[in-house]
Amino acid sequence: MLAGKKILIGITGSIAAYKIPFLIRFLKKQGAEVQILMTDFATEFVTPLTLSTLSEKPVLTDFFDKGDGSWTSHVDLGLWADLFLVAPLSANTMAKMASGIADNLLLTTILSARCPIYFAPAMDLDMYKHPSTQNNIATLKSFGYKLIEPVEGELASGLHGFGRLEEPELIFEVLKKALLGKKPFEGKKALITAGPTQEPIDPVRYIGNRSSGKMGVEIALALAEMGADVDLILGPSAIKVTHPKIDVVHIETADDMHQACMQRFPDSDITVMAAAVADYTSTQVSKQKIKKDTELSTISLKPTVDILATMGTQKTEQQVLVGFALETDNEVENARKKLEKKNTDLLVLNSLRDEGAGFGVDTNKVSLLYANGKQIEIPLQSKQEVAVTIGKSIEAILNPVDS
Ligand code: CTP
Repeated sequence: MLAGKKILIGITGSIAAYKIPFLIRFLKKQGAEVQILMTDFATEFVTPLTLSTLSEKPVLTDFFDKGDGSWTSHVDLGLWADLFLVAPLSANTMAKMASGIADNLLLTTILSARCPIYFAPAMDLDMYKHPSTQNNIATLKSFGYKLIEPVEGELASGLHGFGRLEEPELIFEVLKKALLGKKPFEGKKALITAGPTQEPIDPVRYIGNRSSGKMGVEIALALAEMGADVDLILGPSAIKVTHPKIDVVHIETADDMHQACMQRFPDSDITVMAAAVADYTSTQVSKQKIKKDTELSTISLKPTVDILATMGTQKTEQQVLVGFALETDNEVENARKKLEKKNTDLLVLNSLRDEGAGFGVDTNKVSLLYANGKQIEIPLQSKQEVAVTIGKSIEAILNPVDS
């Protein structure tokens, strides 16, 4: 089943390294090619001889072969692999991966790899729970690396808790799925907007809103994970996005967002407008800072272009268009009107009345309104979960099942 698939396995210093020979056997039995990379410390836990015998390839730990003076190219290794698994991943190597340190062959190869990277941590429960480890896991996930979570159980220290490396049979299943499964949005282009816009009044002040960009960024990540090539048009936001399948375009004003979107919309299969776009902008932007003693009692405004509504007039049958609505009263009625007026296939309704929903929080409570009249209430979920739900709804719109 895995004939022709090339897998790099990076082993770091953890007692759980004893599970990797089993994983190699499973992969080899299915016809995969396996190349083992080890840190020096890992060689204390499982012998390179065992691993090279099972993988039928010399185990690599060093850049240089001390015998004949040749060297191993981390770039070639990184380009060779269809998938790179780091397992077991120690807290130390994890921290180095999160900060881009490249002081051994394994770490350097990670930086060169273009294939999907999976990581399976194994460590004592307190090390796993430590904020630095949790921050590093979040950083690795933000690079698009996939976490194979450790499980709960008895640990080498004698303590009981989370930190045990997942069993090799289950790691094998994850890898098999990753290597064989086609992602639902592969070959599709997605255009996502996120964050607020800022409409300048003078070089110092602007009219803005409270959007953090979290919801839209999570949608961009979810669609990228489902295989789409994503253009993320992001208003001023503190969130950093570094996913290999996401191109981030930073913009400031509603007009910048309009231009960035309209350039890309004709080629986009899926468009999700999660940004909180200013409806009005200042008619005049002062070149100098407006001084306090200037008699300024009003700011004159003009409407911005409704980007979503413009897209709604241009959308083809093949394109899926998703809008957001933030309402405080007559929520469903207003949202349904918005869906019809802006010609969207799906409208995600947030009500600021719901606790845990709205700006700056990690959760959201939304209703999904479909163009065919269907409506689904989603219970309070993390914004990440809501994003996955939206991704699945888009998938269902693209591939309707006849009932
Ligand atoms: N939107 C847009 N361009 C604008 C304003 C809004 O593309 N100039 C998009 C938003 O990204 C969102 C949807 O339109 O997907 C709804 O935005 P919202 O502000 O809730 O609705 P408005 O149409 O602006 O109506 P109102 O503010 O009166 O509720």
